[in-house]
Amino acid sequence: MGWLDDRVALVTGGGSGIGFAVVERFLQEGARVVVLERSPVEPAAWGDHANRVRVLRGDVTVYGDNVRAVDTAVAEFGQLDVLVANVGIHDSFVRLVDLEPDKLAAAFDEIFDINVKAYLLAARAAVRALAATRGTMIFTVSNAGLYPGGGGPLYTASKHAVTGIVRQLAHELAPAIRVNGVAPAGTVTALRGPAALGQDRTGLFTDAEAAVRSIRATKPLDIAPTGADHAGLYVLLASRENSPAITGEILSSDGGLGARGLGAIAGGYDLLDALLPAGDS
Ligand SMILES: NC(=O)c1ccc[n+]([C@@H]2O[C@H](COP(=O)([O-])OP(=O)(O)OC[C@H]3O[C@@H](n4cnc5c(N)ncnc54)[C@H](O)[C@@H]3O)[C@@H](O)[C@H]2O)c1
Repeated sequence: MGWLDDRVALVTGGGSGIGFAVVERFLQEGARVVVLERSPVEPAAWGDHANRVRVLRGDVTVYGDNVRAVDTAVAEFGQLDVLVANVGIHDSFVRLVDLEPDKLAAAFDEIFDINVKAYLLAARAAVRALAATRGTMIFTVSNAGLYPGGGGPLYTASKHAVTGIVRQLAHELAPAIRVNGVAPAGTVTALRGPAALGQDRTGLFTDAEAAVRSIRATKPLDIAPTGADHAGLYVLLASRENSPAITGEILSSDGGLGARGLGAIAGGYDLLDALLPAGDS
């Protein structure tokens, strides 16, 4: 018995990173999944579960591609219970003063098209099918949707906009559809940026080992999470039985950013050594 037996999900950007891990966990929990993805990926990527996956090549910024993905879910699997709008791009922390004015507008358009407009297009395309199943929408936010410093102003503004989408749609769509977000912190993936800033070919995490070190160093839990570390929250929010009273919430999966101290990042670095006998920690 899985938490998502007989449920049908649509995951945008499921071909890589956090989206890929979400698809994997949904499949393990018994769901059938449609992936809307721009890059080539085959259902075989999910191994033994491949027969419960359909991949649709398309662009999340095109409304018709979102509609095709919803139609595929209904035609192939009979219904749609869960939308995970997940595709996003970063801005590699470029500060306002370092954004060349002639590129700022183009980079804004690209980032907001993908990070904000596409989420609304996916929600609009899925709303009827989700209402029919009393389904749920889950948006991938970011710590940058809640705090400064998780990106430059373009990424941070776009993810704060996603926070607004979650709250507004949760209000508008209740009681038919629950709407929530998951806010991961730094996760080493293939995350890219806008072409206008020359970031569309190089990932944000060019040096994975250095990225892991710096992500861990800022987290009270001393963790550099993987996509799989976040995926359980999507399962929880997708499961009507396990989160029937949650809507309009953003669940942080950020290693404890809200629990940082002013002196030290974490207050208990010495605890494991002090509380546990040598060899137990
Ligand atoms: N990686 C992190 O540190 C991190 C932290 C917080 C939040 N996030 C958010 O997580 C989400 C997923 O990012 P990720 O890190 O897994 O990145 P990723 O690049 O590994 O995965 C994104 C996927 O989206 C696809 N994609 C990109 N543009 C598309 C388009 N126009 N149409 C269809 N598919 C498209 C890509 O091909 C890729 O498979 C994003 O919203 C990102 O902002 C990431």
